[in-house]
Amino acid sequence: MKRVLLAFALILFPTTIYAENIPPQREKLQFQDFTLELPLGLEADRFYVPDDNQISADKVELGRALFFDPRLSADDSVACAFCHVAEDTFTDNLPTSIGIEGQKGGRNAPSIINRAFSREQFWDGRAASLEEQAKGPLTNPVEMGMPSHDAVVKKISAIKGYREWFKRVFGNEVNIDDLAKAIATFERTVVSGGSKMDRFTFGDKSALSASEKRGFELFEGKARCVQCHNGFNFTDEQYHNIGVGWDTGKVDLGRYTVTKRREHIGAFKTPSLREITTTDPYMHNGSIETLEEVIEFYNRGGVGNPFLDIEMKRPSASLEEMLDALDRIEGLVKLESDEGAALNLTRRDKADLLAFLKTLDGKGWRKIEEPDSFPK
Ligand code: HEC
Ligand code: HEC
Repeated sequence: MKRVLLAFALILFPTTIYAENIPPQREKLQFQDFTLELPLGLEADRFYVPDDNQISADKVELGRALFFDPRLSADDSVACAFCHVAEDTFTDNLPTSIGIEGQKGGRNAPSIINRAFSREQFWDGRAASLEEQAKGPLTNPVEMGMPSHDAVVKKISAIKGYREWFKRVFGNEVNIDDLAKAIATFERTVVSGGSKMDRFTFGDKSALSASEKRGFELFEGKARCVQCHNGFNFTDEQYHNIGVGWDTGKVDLGRYTVTKRREHIGAFKTPSLREITTTDPYMHNGSIETLEEVIEFYNRGGVGNPFLDIEMKRPSASLEEMLDALDRIEGLVKLESDEGAALNLTRRDKADLLAFLKTLDGKGWRKIEEPDSFPK
């Protein structure tokens, strides 16, 4: 009976199992003639490369050129890197992005770090792969504004340097699938790890200050962040409604538009928290400016709405407390009741949680720059 209850409690209260037993060496990923050194903390076996798009050094370089080249847009003004700015952790630091001819989009540009560890892309996960994702912005009228993928192919084929480069890498004429494959390959090399938190997780117990450590305990405990921001990339890769936008009268249905499932109304992909100090403003609509305000948002329990995620409402309790509660019938009743989602963090709690979030800045992506010149 106890064992059944334990299993039950574990299902109800998933907590992160940080891999403390993995030795703290950096992992090297070797692809053909390209080596990617993964910064500390990233899990090599979760790095996803599709069978039909293997990584090579020349493909990464071609992808880098395409990513930074504004000629992929209708009027040569907007590259991918226009909204995913390399030195700004591959974001644009705007609430919602501005694309071709100064047009405003409806969502906040996420960073493209650590995309190789996720399958579904976009806030609502509507692209099943990075390859699929890369084709979207090209013809989006408020992003790069090309009339069609054929038009992109025609434009890029007219550049001799690209024609030759595609031939070399793919053995083909320029085509939209290979173009997307090259860009996706470049993006897979944009990684972030080796943060203070990673050093702490992998054995350097002095890497975090007392306040940061306490913040981590809150993150995993009273503040419940880990219920969604878990694993080495601080995301469960799932979709949750935490209420962003429900107090504005302008609700984005999010994941629901993809799945048409009721529980996905207003749900968005849990973003990674790596590099979180530099990717402001926050949330799918860029509505929260600072991390202090993000913490206040969660402390209030998000924004109440009929579809608020159950993870926002779970009572926080240690496993022992849970088992104890489960042993008593009234514990079960308590679990099912719709408790408030507020966290009741003290001022010190908030300061420590903030200190912890700041330990997630790392390295890996910082050396990536725009190419000196583009193919002619
Ligand atoms: C006009 C600004 C803009 C341009 C140009 C742009 N993006 Fe984005 N990007 C965004 C926004 C905004 C989102 C989020 C959209 C959404 O989720 O609905 C996004 C999402 C993404 C994502 C998903 C990240 C995640 O965490 O799910 C990737 C990857 C990406 N863009 C890569 C690219 C590539 C590659 C290009 C060029 C082919 C590009 N972007 C061009 C603004 C832009
Ligand atoms: C129920 C799951 C869930 C819990 C619990 C949760 N988050 Fe989130 N978090 C999300 C989702 C989903 C988003 C994106 C929501 C949106 O844009 O609508 C998000 C967004 C964020 C962002 C903005 C990231 C960005 O790139 O814009 C930060 C920062 C953040 N969460 C930190 C925290 C902290 C700190 C806690 C604990 C106090 C926490 N989260 C608890 C699911 C969760």
